Amino acid sequence: MAKPLRVGMIGVGGIAQAHLAAWQKISDAEVIAIADIKPEALKKNLETWSLPPEAAFTDYKKMLDQVELDLVDVCTPNAVHAKPTIAGLKAGCHVLVEKPVAISAREVERMIEAGQDAKRLLMVAQVLRFGRDGQVCKSWVDQGLVGDIYWARAEYLRRRGVPPWGGFIDKQASAGGPCYDIGVHVLDMALHLMDFPTPVTVSAGTYLKLAKRPSLMKHNPRRYTVPEDFATAFVRFADGRSLSLGAAWALNLREDTNQVLVCGTKGGVYLYPATLVREDNGVLTNSTAEVSAFDNADMFYNECSAFVQAIREGGPSPVPGEQALVTQRILDAVYLSGAKGKEVKV
Ligand SMILES: NC(=O)c1ccc[n+]([C@@H]2O[C@H](COP(=O)([O-])OP(=O)(O)OC[C@H]3O[C@@H](n4cnc5c(N)ncnc54)[C@H](O)[C@@H]3O)[C@@H](O)[C@H]2O)c1
Repeated sequence: MAKPLRVGMIGVGGIAQAHLAAWQKISDAEVIAIADIKPEALKKNLETWSLPPEAAFTDYKKMLDQVELDLVDVCTPNAVHAKPTIAGLKAGCHVLVEKPVAISAREVERMIEAGQDAKRLLMVAQVLRFGRDGQVCKSWVDQGLVGDIYWARAEYLRRRGVPPWGGFIDKQASAGGPCYDIGVHVLDMALHLMDFPTPVTVSAGTYLKLAKRPSLMKHNPRRYTVPEDFATAFVRFADGRSLSLGAAWALNLREDTNQVLVCGTKGGVYLYPATLVREDNGVLTNSTAEVSAFDNADMFYNECSAFVQAIREGGPSPVPGEQALVTQRILDAVYLSGAKGKEVKV
């Protein structure tokens, strides 16, 4: 029996806790080192995860130099994804990196190249793919129950949901606003269901209208430096299909929305709750899968397990950099189109 994969974490803040909990449950992997620029974060994590003091590093490069690792898990802010990922791959490790994969397509290209050169797997942590609803929807599409998908809608819209913690509203840490942080989840899922068509144009509107106001929101409006609190976009693909995207931290809505819908020639699929719409005996019928919160609670465990399995089997990556590059190109185009106020080529 092979020894468990030796895991090193880079960035042990908020989301890393979900990853660390998942790694603890996986017998074929063991977290043996952690790196974070904040000594207090290291101290807290050493205690929580019962790690010895020598497992902690304030410089991830030292961790990569001094500890033999098989897998690096990058949970730093968006703007700090590319460098540690490339360093991890160059050190001969397989790398799992949080979403959005990076902050520009150029960075993603470099990350992919580094993986190819090192012959190591790069996986992007698009966790919705590992929830039960997402898996049920994907299986309906793969069974041909939806036919040819020609339109998708991906929306993650919050009424008043600007996160007051972490780097989500700080341009230096996050680079983008809701489009990066929550939009990327539903965009990836829609593209996954559509089998990653090639985007050609994007026409987007990006707005910053509410998040600078203190009312009903717990963040400090003066700290809000990301470009938008709402983004909307229309994406056209080379094969004529299209997608409409919406992402908001704050918008004047009746209710929050977190939904992906794909429509095809035979049926339609909603992500939450996983619902298949199709004609059945001459009647348009909605069939909803019974997915419990319990089924979806294991998303991070499923994500980390899928990566371990792919490493053991010699690939492919469950969420490859090449797919994340398509997503990133669309996101780059959303911001460019929003800034220019006109359609742009992807
Ligand atoms: N999958 C999800 O549902 C989900 C949810 C939240 C956040 N995220 C993503 O996870 C990433 C981290 O978000 P978070 O909320 O955990 O942020 P966070 O601020 O809570 O944690 C990030 C940690 O990285 C550390 N860090 C920063 N620069 C570093 C460096 N150069 N070297 C080592 N450590 C460094 C920080 O000190 C901090 O402890 C972001 O990309 C975010 O988009 C994903």
